[in-house]
Amino acid sequence: TESDRHVTDLAGRHVVVSAGGTREPLDPVRFLGNRSSGKQGYALARTAAARGARVTLLSANSALPDPAGVDVVPVGTALELRDAVLKAAVDADAVVMAAAVADFRPAVYAPGKIKKKEGGAEPEPLELVRNPDILAELSGARPRAGQVVAGFAAETDDVLAHGRAKLAAKGCDLLVVNEVGERKTFGAEENEAVVLGADGSETTVPYGPKETLADTVWDLVAERFPE
Ligand code: CTP
Ligand code: CA
Repeated sequence: TESDRHVTDLAGRHVVVSAGGTREPLDPVRFLGNRSSGKQGYALARTAAARGARVTLLSANSALPDPAGVDVVPVGTALELRDAVLKAAVDADAVVMAAAVADFRPAVYAPGKIKKKEGGAEPEPLELVRNPDILAELSGARPRAGQVVAGFAAETDDVLAHGRAKLAAKGCDLLVVNEVGERKTFGAEENEAVVLGADGSETTVPYGPKETLADTVWDLVAERFPE
């Protein structure tokens, strides 16, 4: 990989990576969450640091150890992640949103543990509200001129068509699209993907370590830095 060759093409750059998955609390003991392990985001943070970048890793509920030389900021919910991204992005050359952000959160947080009703009554339906779209917000109002913004999307069915539509809707520069499958994506050590560029580019990354995909993402990000 690039990092094995001791390339320091990201020296002097500040990059922000989000990783893991947000958790949206229902009450003090329960949450709505997802299966993201954080491995791809952590691989992005490690490879960027190896290539000389200053790295801020916004880590949502990942059990992985802190990568050496990386500034790790723990976050819990989508709203906390949004605040942390907007803060860290102010002086960032690039932001890569690898975190799985919950689309919805419970409309109300119960400060005490929710109890079953007496007499075996059916539960009330759970009311949800939308979380802000952090990637779209950042893409539309770049906190720093020339900042490169990238996202990730796991899709099924016509993966590339969904990816192209999502890239356009978000307004980001790059979208890493992977197909959700048995041995891929969630919790896996390896991944395969197509990286779509807003300029129409398409870069296929064959099945392999998440570090390889991470290095390709940084190659494509670095190409897009202004002079
Ligand atoms: N994302 C985000 N804020 C959200 C949801 C998603 O910043 N509220 C980011 C993710 O970090 C990822 C990208 O957007 O980089 C795509 O996430 P995805 O869930 O695929 O996109 P959605 O617009 O939520 O589409 P879908 O309805 O398919 O879930
Ligand atoms: Ca989503």
